[in-house]
Amino acid sequence: MLSTVRRWKYQALALCSALLVVACSGGEVTQPNASDPTAGNTPVNAEMNLYSSRHYDTDRALYDNFTAETGIKVNLIEADGDELIERVKSEGENSPADVILTVDAGRLWRAQEAGIFQPIQSEILTKAIPANFRQADGLWFGFSSRARVIVYNKDKVDPSELSTYEALTDPKWKGRIAIRSSSNMYNQSMVASMIDADGLDATEAWAKGLVANFAREPEGNDTDQISAVADGIADIAIVNSYYVARLVNSDDPADQEVASKIGMFFPNQEDRGTHINISGGGVAAHAPHRDNAIAFLEYLASPEAQALFADGNNEFPVVEGTPLNNEYLKEFVDRKVDPVHAEIIGKNNAAALQLMDRAGWR
Ligand SMILES: [Fe+2]
Repeated sequence: MLSTVRRWKYQALALCSALLVVACSGGEVTQPNASDPTAGNTPVNAEMNLYSSRHYDTDRALYDNFTAETGIKVNLIEADGDELIERVKSEGENSPADVILTVDAGRLWRAQEAGIFQPIQSEILTKAIPANFRQADGLWFGFSSRARVIVYNKDKVDPSELSTYEALTDPKWKGRIAIRSSSNMYNQSMVASMIDADGLDATEAWAKGLVANFAREPEGNDTDQISAVADGIADIAIVNSYYVARLVNSDDPADQEVASKIGMFFPNQEDRGTHINISGGGVAAHAPHRDNAIAFLEYLASPEAQALFADGNNEFPVVEGTPLNNEYLKEFVDRKVDPVHAEIIGKNNAAALQLMDRAGWR
């Protein structure tokens, strides 16, 4: 739970939006209606418009809790990541968007390049979120992370055979690897991180070697790759960690059956660490409820929201010291992860996509 002081701060911020200058024009924000604690629970104009491309139903709990804590209503507009960017761009100065949330550093970078974020200063956010997970000028912030892991069939692969992404070009893996297509941003970001670590030429040679070891032409999403491994269509696959944890933590017997056949491996523990990506967002360039938008982002960095990313969607929190209830994720929380800045992953996106195309990765 947020402290009362913080709750009041949110309400005061919301009130600022409504009253604009009068109450908030200089110096400290005062507690509204301090003499009547029941007043001020529903501040005028206490709403914000959230544009989200996070495709997880469990996010609803985040928004509901934010509203319960602050009295600020969340109007949710959902769309695919690139669609969302185009929509905000075409709405221009009249865009109702207050906060834009998306997945993947590559897409945050695209949104940044499209000019749809505005920089914000927030001590809460800069203190809570590690520097490699946020844009230096405050354009966007990462709130949860996910590792791009190797999933293996426990009957066919001993984890001691696994080491790095780079080692997956070994001929011993010929016809044994499943992965989704190069049009998928998760793969583009993984390759972008390898360009940073290994250089362009070595990464292109790696991509060619990986394609040569594919068990099948890329198809489906990350869950489909895990099923392919469980079903013996492939022996290993590269997928995001939350898809694995979701199956392991599922009550559905069919999911449990898949989960019982697979293991999750974090590659590159002896060098730079496993590639991780973020989901995050920022305040929209023309946000009509800017203060509420900042309050929402600060809420996402709170201990309560950070725990919900893990409990609800099996993502890793980005704020250090967040207690984890998710028993499966606990097993992996100490794994070494690649510290490359999310902005570099974004910047390398175009080069990664071209390289994968040249390598014949469909
Ligand atoms: Fe996903």
